[in-house]
Amino acid sequence: AGPCDIYASGNTPCVAAHSTTRALYDAFTGALYQVKRGSDSTTTTIAPLSAGGVANASTQDLFCKGTTCLITIIYDQSGTGNHLTQAPPGGFKGPAAGGYDNLASATGAPVTLNGQKAYGVFVAPGTGYRNNAAKGIARGDAAEGMYAVLDGTHYNGACCFDYGNAETNGKDTGNGHMETIYFGNCNVWGTGAGKGPWIMADLENGLFSGVNTKNNAGDPTLNYRFLTAIVKGQPNQWAIRGANAASGALSTYYNGKRPNANGYNPMSKEGAIILGIGGDNSHGAQGTFYEGVMTSGYPSDATEAAVQADIVAAKYATASLTSGAGLAVGASISLRAATGRYLARDSSNITAEAVTSSSDASLRRSASWIVRTGLGNGACFSFESSDAPSSYMRHMNSTLLLESDDGSKDFAEDATFCPELGFNGQGHSIRSWNHPTRYIRHYSQVAYIASNGGVNTFDDAVDFHENVIWEIVEGFAG
Ligand code: AHR
Repeated sequence: AGPCDIYASGNTPCVAAHSTTRALYDAFTGALYQVKRGSDSTTTTIAPLSAGGVANASTQDLFCKGTTCLITIIYDQSGTGNHLTQAPPGGFKGPAAGGYDNLASATGAPVTLNGQKAYGVFVAPGTGYRNNAAKGIARGDAAEGMYAVLDGTHYNGACCFDYGNAETNGKDTGNGHMETIYFGNCNVWGTGAGKGPWIMADLENGLFSGVNTKNNAGDPTLNYRFLTAIVKGQPNQWAIRGANAASGALSTYYNGKRPNANGYNPMSKEGAIILGIGGDNSHGAQGTFYEGVMTSGYPSDATEAAVQADIVAAKYATASLTSGAGLAVGASISLRAATGRYLARDSSNITAEAVTSSSDASLRRSASWIVRTGLGNGACFSFESSDAPSSYMRHMNSTLLLESDDGSKDFAEDATFCPELGFNGQGHSIRSWNHPTRYIRHYSQVAYIASNGGVNTFDDAVDFHENVIWEIVEGFAG
Protein backbone atom coordinates (compact mmCIF):
# COMPACT_ATOMS: atom_id res chain seq x y z
CA ALA A 1 0.00 0.00 0.00
CA GLY A 2 1.14 3.60 -0.67
CA PRO A 3 1.37 6.27 2.04
CA CYS A 4 -2.18 7.50 1.42
CA ASP A 5 -3.61 3.96 1.48
CA ILE A 6 -1.95 3.60 4.87
CA TYR A 7 -3.36 6.91 6.17
CA ALA A 8 -6.82 5.90 4.88
CA SER A 9 -6.74 2.60 6.75
CA GLY A 10 -5.81 4.55 9.88
CA ASN A 11 -8.95 6.70 9.40
CA THR A 12 -6.86 9.79 8.72
CA PRO A 13 -7.15 10.02 4.93
CA CYS A 14 -5.00 12.23 2.74
CA VAL A 15 -6.75 15.43 1.67
CA ALA A 16 -3.71 16.51 -0.32
CA ALA A 17 -0.98 14.30 -1.76
CA HIS A 18 1.88 15.86 -3.71
CA SER A 19 4.86 14.20 -5.31
CA THR A 20 6.91 14.61 -8.46
CA THR A 21 8.72 11.34 -7.79
CA ARG A 22 6.03 8.67 -7.31
CA ALA A 23 2.40 7.75 -6.84
CA LEU A 24 1.30 7.95 -3.21
CA TYR A 25 -1.63 5.52 -3.65
CA ASP A 26 -1.23 1.95 -4.87
CA ALA A 27 -3.82 2.44 -7.59
CA PHE A 28 -2.80 5.92 -8.73
CA THR A 29 -2.09 6.24 -12.45
CA GLY A 30 -2.94 9.94 -13.04
CA ALA A 31 -0.81 13.03 -13.56
CA LEU A 32 1.88 13.65 -10.94
CA TYR A 33 3.07 17.00 -12.26
CA GLN A 34 3.18 19.26 -15.27
CA VAL A 35 6.27 20.77 -16.87
CA LYS A 36 6.59 23.67 -19.30
CA ARG A 37 9.51 23.87 -21.69
CA GLY A 38 11.37 27.04 -22.62
CA SER A 39 11.71 26.41 -26.36
CA ASP A 40 8.00 26.80 -27.22
CA SER A 41 6.22 27.29 -23.85
CA THR A 42 4.19 24.10 -24.30
CA THR A 43 3.44 21.76 -21.40
CA THR A 44 3.22 18.05 -20.76
CA THR A 45 2.23 15.94 -17.77
CA ILE A 46 4.31 13.27 -16.08
CA ALA A 47 2.53 10.16 -14.79
CA PRO A 48 3.78 7.08 -12.94
CA LEU A 49 5.42 4.29 -14.97
CA SER A 50 2.72 1.96 -13.62
CA ALA A 51 -0.08 2.12 -11.05
CA GLY A 52 1.42 3.17 -7.74
CA GLY A 53 4.86 3.47 -9.32
CA VAL A 54 7.72 5.89 -9.83
CA ALA A 55 7.30 8.94 -12.09
CA ASN A 56 8.08 8.39 -15.75
CA ALA A 57 11.08 10.71 -15.86
CA SER A 58 11.89 9.77 -19.45
CA THR A 59 8.69 11.55 -20.57
CA GLN A 60 10.20 14.70 -19.07
CA ASP A 61 13.71 14.04 -20.42
CA LEU A 62 12.37 13.61 -23.95
CA PHE A 63 10.06 16.63 -23.77
CA CYS A 64 12.76 18.88 -22.26
CA LYS A 65 15.65 17.70 -24.46
CA GLY A 66 17.67 20.64 -25.76
CA THR A 67 15.83 23.25 -23.70
CA THR A 68 14.88 24.33 -20.18
CA CYS A 69 11.86 23.04 -18.24
CA LEU A 70 9.96 24.34 -15.23
CA ILE A 71 7.54 22.54 -12.92
CA THR A 72 4.24 24.37 -13.45
CA ILE A 73 1.76 22.19 -11.53
CA ILE A 74 2.22 19.63 -8.75
CA TYR A 75 -1.01 17.67 -8.90
CA ASP A 76 -2.95 16.51 -5.87
CA GLN A 77 -3.29 12.73 -6.04
CA SER A 78 -5.98 12.60 -3.31
CA GLY A 79 -8.84 13.41 -5.67
CA THR A 80 -9.57 16.60 -3.70
CA GLY A 81 -8.17 18.81 -6.46
CA ASN A 82 -5.64 20.52 -4.20
CA HIS A 83 -3.04 21.13 -6.91
CA LEU A 84 -0.09 23.41 -6.26
CA THR A 85 0.74 26.14 -8.78
CA GLN A 86 3.00 29.21 -8.96
CA ALA A 87 2.44 31.18 -5.73
CA PRO A 88 0.77 34.57 -6.20
CA PRO A 89 1.90 37.75 -4.43
CA GLY A 90 0.82 37.97 -0.79
CA GLY A 91 2.24 40.04 2.06
CA PHE A 92 5.40 39.95 -0.05
CA LYS A 93 5.69 40.05 -3.82
CA GLY A 94 7.60 37.31 -5.58
CA PRO A 95 10.41 37.96 -8.08
CA ALA A 96 8.57 36.72 -11.21
CA ALA A 97 6.19 38.66 -13.47
CA GLY A 98 3.13 40.03 -11.68
CA GLY A 99 4.70 39.55 -8.25
CA TYR A 100 4.37 35.76 -8.51
CA ASP A 101 7.10 33.54 -7.11
CA ASN A 102 9.41 31.68 -9.44
CA LEU A 103 8.69 28.14 -10.61
CA ALA A 104 11.21 25.39 -9.85
CA SER A 105 13.51 23.89 -12.46
CA ALA A 106 12.30 20.45 -13.51
CA THR A 107 15.87 19.14 -13.42
CA GLY A 108 17.35 20.66 -10.26
CA ALA A 109 16.79 17.66 -7.99
CA PRO A 110 17.40 14.36 -9.80
CA VAL A 111 17.18 11.19 -7.69
CA THR A 112 16.47 7.50 -8.11
CA LEU A 113 13.74 5.47 -6.42
CA ASN A 114 14.43 1.76 -6.46
CA GLY A 115 16.96 2.55 -9.20
CA GLN A 116 14.50 4.46 -11.40
CA LYS A 117 15.20 8.10 -12.20
CA ALA A 118 12.84 10.80 -10.94
CA TYR A 119 13.00 14.51 -10.17
CA GLY A 120 12.20 16.40 -6.96
CA VAL A 121 11.25 20.05 -6.58
CA PHE A 122 14.38 22.16 -6.01
CA VAL A 123 13.23 25.35 -4.30
CA ALA A 124 15.78 28.13 -4.79
CA PRO A 125 15.17 31.38 -2.90
CA GLY A 126 12.30 33.15 -4.69
CA THR A 127 10.52 29.91 -5.62
CA GLY A 128 7.07 29.05 -4.26
CA TYR A 129 3.89 27.05 -4.88
CA ARG A 130 0.51 27.60 -3.30
CA ASN A 131 -3.21 26.79 -3.38
CA ASN A 132 -5.29 29.47 -1.69
CA ALA A 133 -8.59 27.76 -2.53
CA ALA A 134 -7.76 24.29 -1.21
CA LYS A 135 -10.63 22.09 -0.06
CA GLY A 136 -10.87 19.67 2.85
CA ILE A 137 -7.77 20.95 4.66
CA ALA A 138 -8.11 21.47 8.45
CA ARG A 139 -9.58 24.80 9.56
CA GLY A 140 -9.72 26.41 12.98
CA ASP A 141 -8.55 23.97 15.63
CA ALA A 142 -9.37 20.85 13.59
CA ALA A 143 -6.89 17.98 13.63
CA GLU A 144 -4.47 17.23 10.80
CA GLY A 145 -1.23 15.47 10.05
CA MET A 146 1.43 15.89 7.39
CA TYR A 147 4.73 14.45 6.28
CA ALA A 148 7.24 15.46 3.66
CA VAL A 149 10.36 13.83 2.24
CA LEU A 150 13.04 16.51 1.86
CA ASP A 151 16.75 16.88 1.08
CA GLY A 152 18.25 17.36 4.55
CA THR A 153 21.39 18.92 3.05
CA HIS A 154 19.59 21.71 1.14
CA TYR A 155 18.39 24.47 3.44
CA ASN A 156 19.14 27.97 4.62
CA GLY A 157 18.32 30.36 7.44
CA ALA A 158 15.78 32.53 5.64
CA CYS A 159 12.00 32.45 6.05
CA CYS A 160 10.56 29.90 5.36
CA PHE A 161 10.88 26.54 3.62
CA ASP A 162 7.41 25.28 4.57
CA TYR A 163 4.97 22.63 3.43
CA GLY A 164 1.47 22.61 4.84
CA ASN A 165 -1.50 24.66 6.02
CA ALA A 166 -1.43 28.46 5.58
CA GLU A 167 -3.48 31.60 5.07
CA THR A 168 -5.89 31.77 2.16
CA ASN A 169 -4.94 35.37 1.29
CA GLY A 170 -1.15 35.07 1.29
CA LYS A 171 -0.85 37.45 4.20
CA ASP A 172 0.12 37.19 7.85
CA THR A 173 -3.29 37.12 9.54
CA GLY A 174 -1.98 36.36 13.03
CA ASN A 175 -0.70 33.74 15.44
CA GLY A 176 -2.08 30.27 14.91
CA HIS A 177 -3.22 30.87 11.33
CA MET A 178 -0.72 28.36 9.93
CA GLU A 179 0.40 24.82 10.67
CA THR A 180 3.20 23.58 8.42
CA ILE A 181 6.37 21.54 8.41
CA TYR A 182 9.39 23.87 8.37
CA PHE A 183 12.94 22.73 7.59
CA GLY A 184 16.08 24.87 7.82
CA ASN A 185 18.35 26.71 10.22
CA CYS A 186 16.40 29.93 10.64
CA ASN A 187 17.06 31.11 14.22
CA VAL A 188 14.81 34.18 14.30
CA TRP A 189 12.12 32.34 16.28
CA GLY A 190 12.58 28.82 17.63
CA THR A 191 15.72 26.66 17.54
CA GLY A 192 16.62 23.14 18.55
CA ALA A 193 19.85 21.45 19.63
CA GLY A 194 23.05 22.41 17.79
CA LYS A 195 23.29 24.74 14.83
CA GLY A 196 20.50 23.24 12.73
CA PRO A 197 18.92 22.57 10.36
CA TRP A 198 15.88 21.51 12.34
CA ILE A 199 12.38 20.32 11.60
CA MET A 200 10.06 22.86 13.21
CA ALA A 201 6.41 23.84 12.85
CA ASP A 202 5.50 27.16 11.28
CA LEU A 203 2.40 28.20 13.24
CA GLU A 204 2.59 31.85 11.99
CA ASN A 205 4.72 34.55 13.58
CA GLY A 206 6.94 31.79 14.82
CA LEU A 207 8.80 28.62 13.92
CA PHE A 208 8.34 26.28 16.88
CA SER A 209 10.58 23.43 18.06
CA GLY A 210 8.51 22.59 21.17
CA VAL A 211 6.56 24.23 23.95
CA ASN A 212 9.05 27.10 24.46
CA THR A 213 8.92 29.87 21.90
CA LYS A 214 12.74 29.91 21.63
CA ASN A 215 14.98 26.91 22.23
CA ASN A 216 13.86 23.34 22.80
CA ALA A 217 16.89 21.07 23.10
CA GLY A 218 14.84 17.98 22.25
CA ASP A 219 14.65 19.00 18.59
CA PRO A 220 17.89 17.75 17.03
CA THR A 221 20.02 19.06 14.18
CA LEU A 222 19.40 16.70 11.25
CA ASN A 223 21.43 16.20 8.12
CA TYR A 224 20.13 13.06 6.48
CA ARG A 225 20.41 13.39 2.70
CA PHE A 226 16.81 12.12 2.53
CA LEU A 227 14.74 13.28 5.46
CA THR A 228 11.22 12.33 6.55
CA ALA A 229 9.67 15.29 8.40
CA ILE A 230 6.36 15.14 10.26
CA VAL A 231 4.21 17.77 11.98
CA LYS A 232 0.73 17.00 13.30
CA GLY A 233 -1.70 18.99 15.41
CA GLN A 234 -5.01 18.64 17.25
CA PRO A 235 -6.63 20.71 20.03
CA ASN A 236 -3.86 21.76 22.46
CA GLN A 237 -1.62 18.98 21.26
CA TRP A 238 0.96 18.69 18.51
CA ALA A 239 4.10 16.79 17.57
CA ILE A 240 7.31 17.01 15.56
CA ARG A 241 8.75 13.73 14.29
CA GLY A 242 11.46 12.78 11.83
CA ALA A 243 13.64 10.04 10.40
CA ASN A 244 16.20 9.13 7.82
CA ALA A 245 13.97 8.58 4.77
CA ALA A 246 16.37 5.93 3.49
CA SER A 247 16.44 3.67 6.57
CA GLY A 248 15.17 3.14 10.08
CA ALA A 249 12.21 4.35 12.08
CA LEU A 250 10.74 7.69 13.13
CA SER A 251 11.77 9.50 16.29
CA THR A 252 9.54 11.92 18.18
CA TYR A 253 11.25 15.28 18.81
CA TYR A 254 8.27 16.94 20.48
CA ASN A 255 4.86 15.73 21.58
CA GLY A 256 2.84 17.94 23.89
CA LYS A 257 0.76 21.04 24.34
CA ARG A 258 0.73 24.13 22.15
CA PRO A 259 3.55 26.71 22.56
CA ASN A 260 3.65 29.09 25.54
CA ALA A 261 2.40 32.14 23.65
CA ASN A 262 -0.93 33.74 22.88
CA GLY A 263 -2.90 32.78 19.83
CA TYR A 264 -1.84 29.16 19.36
CA ASN A 265 -4.49 27.49 21.52
CA PRO A 266 -6.97 27.15 20.01
CA MET A 267 -5.48 27.33 16.53
CA SER A 268 -7.06 29.38 13.72
CA LYS A 269 -5.93 27.33 10.74
CA GLU A 270 -7.17 28.61 7.38
CA GLY A 271 -6.66 25.63 5.08
CA ALA A 272 -4.63 26.94 2.14
CA ILE A 273 -1.52 24.96 1.12
CA ILE A 274 2.02 26.29 0.64
CA LEU A 275 5.29 24.79 -0.53
CA GLY A 276 8.68 26.50 -0.22
CA ILE A 277 7.49 29.81 1.25
CA GLY A 278 6.08 31.37 4.42
CA GLY A 279 2.42 32.11 5.02
CA ASP A 280 2.85 35.74 3.94
CA ASN A 281 4.78 34.67 0.82
CA SER A 282 8.19 35.30 2.40
CA HIS A 283 10.39 33.61 -0.21
CA GLY A 284 13.99 33.80 0.97
CA ALA A 285 14.27 30.12 1.87
CA GLN A 286 15.62 27.14 -0.04
CA GLY A 287 15.06 23.41 0.18
CA THR A 288 14.09 20.35 -1.84
CA PHE A 289 10.74 18.57 -1.72
CA TYR A 290 10.19 15.07 -3.09
CA GLU A 291 6.79 14.07 -1.71
CA GLY A 292 4.35 15.05 1.02
CA VAL A 293 0.76 14.76 2.15
CA MET A 294 -1.74 16.42 4.44
CA THR A 295 -4.38 14.40 6.24
CA SER A 296 -7.76 14.95 7.79
CA GLY A 297 -7.53 13.85 11.44
CA TYR A 298 -4.55 13.25 13.71
CA PRO A 299 -2.58 10.24 12.44
CA SER A 300 -1.47 7.69 15.01
CA ASP A 301 2.21 6.94 15.54
CA ALA A 302 1.50 3.42 14.26
CA THR A 303 0.09 4.79 10.99
CA GLU A 304 3.13 7.03 10.60
CA ALA A 305 5.46 4.10 11.31
CA ALA A 306 3.88 2.23 8.39
CA VAL A 307 4.21 5.33 6.18
CA GLN A 308 7.90 5.64 7.11
CA ALA A 309 8.43 1.96 6.20
CA ASP A 310 6.81 2.64 2.82
CA ILE A 311 9.12 5.65 2.25
CA VAL A 312 12.19 3.54 3.12
CA ALA A 313 10.98 0.83 0.72
CA ALA A 314 10.77 3.44 -2.07
CA LYS A 315 14.60 3.52 -1.81
CA TYR A 316 15.46 7.14 -2.44
CA ALA A 317 19.07 7.54 -3.64
CA THR A 318 21.13 10.29 -5.24
CA ALA A 319 21.57 10.64 -9.01
CA SER A 320 24.19 12.47 -11.06
CA LEU A 321 23.84 16.27 -11.21
CA THR A 322 25.99 16.59 -14.33
CA SER A 323 26.03 15.23 -17.89
CA GLY A 324 28.09 15.55 -21.04
CA ALA A 325 31.86 15.11 -21.15
CA GLY A 326 33.26 14.80 -17.63
CA LEU A 327 35.50 17.43 -16.06
CA ALA A 328 38.67 16.46 -14.23
CA VAL A 329 39.23 18.12 -10.87
CA GLY A 330 42.55 19.97 -11.03
CA ALA A 331 42.45 20.49 -14.81
CA SER A 332 43.08 23.92 -16.31
CA ILE A 333 40.25 24.91 -18.66
CA SER A 334 39.02 27.80 -20.75
CA LEU A 335 35.37 28.27 -21.68
CA ARG A 336 34.63 29.27 -25.28
CA ALA A 337 31.30 30.68 -26.40
CA ALA A 338 29.89 30.05 -29.89
CA THR A 339 31.04 33.60 -30.71
CA GLY A 340 34.65 32.42 -30.24
CA ARG A 341 35.12 34.57 -27.14
CA TYR A 342 36.24 33.15 -23.79
CA LEU A 343 35.03 33.71 -20.24
CA ALA A 344 37.65 35.90 -18.58
CA ARG A 345 37.94 37.91 -15.40
CA ASP A 346 38.50 41.62 -15.66
CA SER A 347 39.12 42.67 -12.09
CA SER A 348 36.04 41.25 -10.32
CA ASN A 349 33.85 41.21 -13.45
CA ILE A 350 33.57 38.23 -15.73
CA THR A 351 33.16 38.98 -19.40
CA ALA A 352 33.46 37.28 -22.79
CA GLU A 353 36.82 38.30 -24.26
CA ALA A 354 38.71 37.72 -27.49
CA VAL A 355 41.72 35.61 -26.49
CA THR A 356 44.20 33.61 -28.57
CA SER A 357 47.29 31.59 -27.78
CA SER A 358 49.35 34.65 -28.72
CA SER A 359 47.48 37.02 -26.36
CA ASP A 360 49.66 38.37 -23.59
CA ALA A 361 50.19 36.13 -20.59
CA SER A 362 47.94 38.08 -18.23
CA LEU A 363 44.94 37.93 -20.60
CA ARG A 364 45.55 34.21 -21.14
CA ARG A 365 45.68 33.69 -17.38
CA SER A 366 42.49 35.71 -16.86
CA ALA A 367 40.69 33.35 -19.27
CA SER A 368 41.94 30.21 -17.50
CA TRP A 369 40.21 28.36 -14.69
CA ILE A 370 41.11 25.44 -12.49
CA VAL A 371 38.37 22.86 -12.01
CA ARG A 372 37.68 22.26 -8.32
CA THR A 373 35.25 19.99 -6.52
CA GLY A 374 32.06 22.00 -6.01
CA LEU A 375 32.43 24.09 -2.86
CA GLY A 376 28.69 23.88 -2.15
CA ASN A 377 28.05 20.38 -3.48
CA GLY A 378 30.75 17.84 -4.22
CA ALA A 379 28.75 16.36 -7.08
CA CYS A 380 29.28 19.57 -9.09
CA PHE A 381 32.25 21.90 -9.64
CA SER A 382 33.71 25.28 -8.78
CA PHE A 383 36.02 27.28 -11.05
CA GLU A 384 39.04 28.91 -9.46
CA SER A 385 40.76 31.69 -11.37
CA SER A 386 44.30 30.91 -12.61
CA ASP A 387 44.86 34.63 -12.28
CA ALA A 388 43.76 34.99 -8.66
CA PRO A 389 44.29 31.94 -6.43
CA SER A 390 41.41 31.27 -3.96
CA SER A 391 39.10 33.43 -6.07
CA TYR A 392 36.23 31.68 -7.79
CA MET A 393 33.45 32.37 -10.25
CA ARG A 394 30.35 33.06 -8.18
CA HIS A 395 27.05 34.72 -8.91
CA MET A 396 25.57 37.61 -7.01
CA ASN A 397 22.23 39.13 -8.01
CA SER A 398 22.49 36.81 -11.03
CA THR A 399 25.69 38.49 -12.28
CA LEU A 400 28.80 36.31 -12.53
CA LEU A 401 31.70 37.75 -10.51
CA LEU A 402 35.18 36.72 -9.44
CA GLU A 403 35.48 36.82 -5.67
CA SER A 404 37.78 35.46 -3.06
CA ASP A 405 36.35 32.55 -1.06
CA ASP A 406 35.17 33.92 2.29
CA GLY A 407 34.43 30.43 3.61
CA SER A 408 30.71 31.08 3.96
CA LYS A 409 27.95 28.66 3.01
CA ASP A 410 26.48 31.34 0.72
CA PHE A 411 29.77 31.79 -1.14
CA ALA A 412 30.23 28.04 -1.53
CA GLU A 413 26.73 27.59 -2.94
CA ASP A 414 26.93 30.61 -5.25
CA ALA A 415 30.26 29.28 -6.58
CA THR A 416 28.94 25.82 -7.44
CA PHE A 417 28.02 24.90 -11.01
CA CYS A 418 26.76 21.70 -12.61
CA PRO A 419 27.85 21.30 -16.24
CA GLU A 420 25.35 19.45 -18.47
CA LEU A 421 25.49 18.31 -22.06
CA GLY A 422 24.94 21.53 -24.04
CA PHE A 423 21.40 22.33 -25.22
CA ASN A 424 22.66 21.91 -28.80
CA GLY A 425 23.88 18.38 -28.03
CA GLN A 426 27.51 19.54 -27.93
CA GLY A 427 29.70 21.26 -25.42
CA HIS A 428 28.18 22.15 -22.09
CA SER A 429 25.42 24.24 -20.60
CA ILE A 430 26.54 25.14 -17.09
CA ARG A 431 23.78 25.25 -14.48
CA SER A 432 23.99 27.14 -11.21
CA TRP A 433 23.67 24.53 -8.43
CA ASN A 434 21.63 26.72 -6.08
CA HIS A 435 19.55 28.42 -8.80
CA PRO A 436 19.06 25.53 -11.23
CA THR A 437 16.74 27.45 -13.56
CA ARG A 438 19.82 29.60 -14.30
CA TYR A 439 22.76 28.90 -16.63
CA ILE A 440 26.03 30.75 -17.25
CA ARG A 441 25.24 33.07 -20.16
CA HIS A 442 27.00 35.86 -22.00
CA TYR A 443 24.81 38.85 -22.80
CA SER A 444 26.39 41.97 -24.37
CA GLN A 445 29.74 40.31 -23.48
CA VAL A 446 28.93 40.28 -19.75
CA ALA A 447 28.48 36.96 -17.91
CA TYR A 448 25.34 36.23 -15.90
CA ILE A 449 23.41 33.29 -14.59
CA ALA A 450 20.29 33.60 -16.70
CA SER A 451 16.89 31.93 -16.72
CA ASN A 452 15.22 31.34 -20.07
CA GLY A 453 12.73 34.17 -20.58
CA GLY A 454 12.95 35.50 -17.01
CA VAL A 455 12.34 39.07 -15.88
CA ASN A 456 15.88 40.45 -16.32
CA THR A 457 17.15 41.89 -19.63
CA PHE A 458 19.86 39.24 -19.67
CA ASP A 459 17.20 36.49 -19.32
CA ASP A 460 15.92 37.31 -22.83
CA ALA A 461 14.62 34.15 -24.50
CA VAL A 462 16.04 35.37 -27.82
CA ASP A 463 19.37 33.57 -28.34
CA PHE A 464 19.14 32.06 -24.84
CA HIS A 465 20.04 28.53 -25.92
CA GLU A 466 23.03 29.68 -28.04
CA ASN A 467 24.33 32.03 -25.36
CA VAL A 468 24.52 29.32 -22.69
CA ILE A 469 26.67 26.91 -24.74
CA TRP A 470 30.31 26.64 -23.68
CA GLU A 471 33.03 24.58 -25.30
CA ILE A 472 35.29 23.48 -22.46
CA VAL A 473 38.86 23.42 -23.82
CA GLU A 474 42.36 23.16 -22.40
CA GLY A 475 43.21 26.28 -20.39
CA PHE A 476 45.32 28.98 -22.05
CA ALA A 477 47.45 29.14 -18.92
CA GLY A 478 48.21 25.40 -19.30
O1 AHR B 1 5.90 32.13 11.21
C1 AHR B 1 7.01 32.49 10.47
C2 AHR B 1 6.64 33.38 9.33
O2 AHR B 1 6.26 34.65 9.80
C3 AHR B 1 5.47 32.97 8.49
O3 AHR B 1 5.73 31.93 7.59
C4 AHR B 1 5.18 34.24 7.76
O4 AHR B 1 3.85 34.35 7.35
C5 AHR B 1 5.56 35.32 8.75
O5 AHR B 1 6.44 36.21 8.16
